[in-house]
Amino acid sequence: MSREIGIDLGTANVLIHLKGRGIVVNEPAVVAVDLDTNEIVAHGQEAYEMIGRTPPSIQVIHPLEGGVIADYDLAEAMLILFMRRIENQHWFSKPIILICAPSQINDIEKQSLMETAERASRGIVYIEEETKVGALGAGGNILSPQATMVMDIGGGTSDISVISSGEIIASQSVRIAGDDFNQAIIDYVKETYQLELGTKTAEQAKIAIASAQRVPQQDIRHHDVNGIDMVSRLPRSMKLSNNDLAFALAEPIDEIAKATEHLLQSIQPEFMADIIEQGILLTGGGALIDGLDDYLTHRLEVSVIQVDQPMRSVAVGTGLMLELIQSGEFERTQPTFWGRVKRQLKQFKRRLMG
Ligand SMILES: Nc1ncnc2c1ncn2[C@@H]1O[C@H](COP(=O)(O)OP(=O)(O)O)[C@@H](O)[C@H]1O
Ligand SMILES: [Mg+2]
Repeated sequence: MSREIGIDLGTANVLIHLKGRGIVVNEPAVVAVDLDTNEIVAHGQEAYEMIGRTPPSIQVIHPLEGGVIADYDLAEAMLILFMRRIENQHWFSKPIILICAPSQINDIEKQSLMETAERASRGIVYIEEETKVGALGAGGNILSPQATMVMDIGGGTSDISVISSGEIIASQSVRIAGDDFNQAIIDYVKETYQLELGTKTAEQAKIAIASAQRVPQQDIRHHDVNGIDMVSRLPRSMKLSNNDLAFALAEPIDEIAKATEHLLQSIQPEFMADIIEQGILLTGGGALIDGLDDYLTHRLEVSVIQVDQPMRSVAVGTGLMLELIQSGEFERTQPTFWGRVKRQLKQFKRRLMG
């Protein structure tokens, strides 16, 4: 029996999808390292809770900071730790694994990650582009010759792709995404209110009330934040509004919109017609910013659609993609060298048997 496992190895979150079970892991892509012993003492949610609250000997690290692998050994160790979680829950032999990794990691790193997953699982491992799988998970028909366009705003990068007949025909990746939104909030509050916020506090404010556009008086909402007063260096609390956040986020959102405009300008007319007809799918955590779909729709003059549960699109898509790979409908995804050998042996055996 084979088991199909999909892994969305994001810069901010790692999700694991199991066939028949759905999403079984959904946790921050962080590890806590003991600097004295060089050992990982916590990973995922447990390590995330430690951010900003660690003793000097412990550091919480994002191995995939900024959409690239900042620390390869830690990224690999983190992948294995998350994979072990499902091994404990389930016994399975020879799984088939699909990994989606950030678009900006290089081919050597991709290959090494696949080999790591292969050694850890003894199965066949495939790797695919995150946007392609996300578009599939969001309901896009990526195998059709009609173009599907997707915008994924994650933690470290925003990736925009146009897909036709199962292939990415045009794409753009910018290193401006959720982490930069957090930083923009920190900078804005510092400048406007002379209050210093921690990253996690800024992120929580963003998740609670981020808005892509200023809202009228009756729609104003508030969120309490605690920080350090920059003059007295004493603790201070204040209320931030969604309009504060709209102001703070204007610049990074504009950068992402510009990259999308740039990509749209390179699209051939027939594909453009498909995109106008179907709209652009908005996935990733950034899609949850209030009014971002409307803002982009007006700005790009193409309807931008916030998909249902955008942070799960890639993980859900891994399940669908594995079905397509297994049924032979999708052959472009390349497994590792040993995966290819195993697959060919299997086909050979099948032919011999009849
Ligand atoms: N409700 C929300 N509004 C705005 N941003 C959000 C919201 N929920 C999560 N995010 C942000 O989404 C990002 C993570 O998105 P995700 O798609 O999981 O990224 P990645 O694929 O890079 O791991 C983080 O920066 C997080 O702060
Ligand atoms: Mg992602």
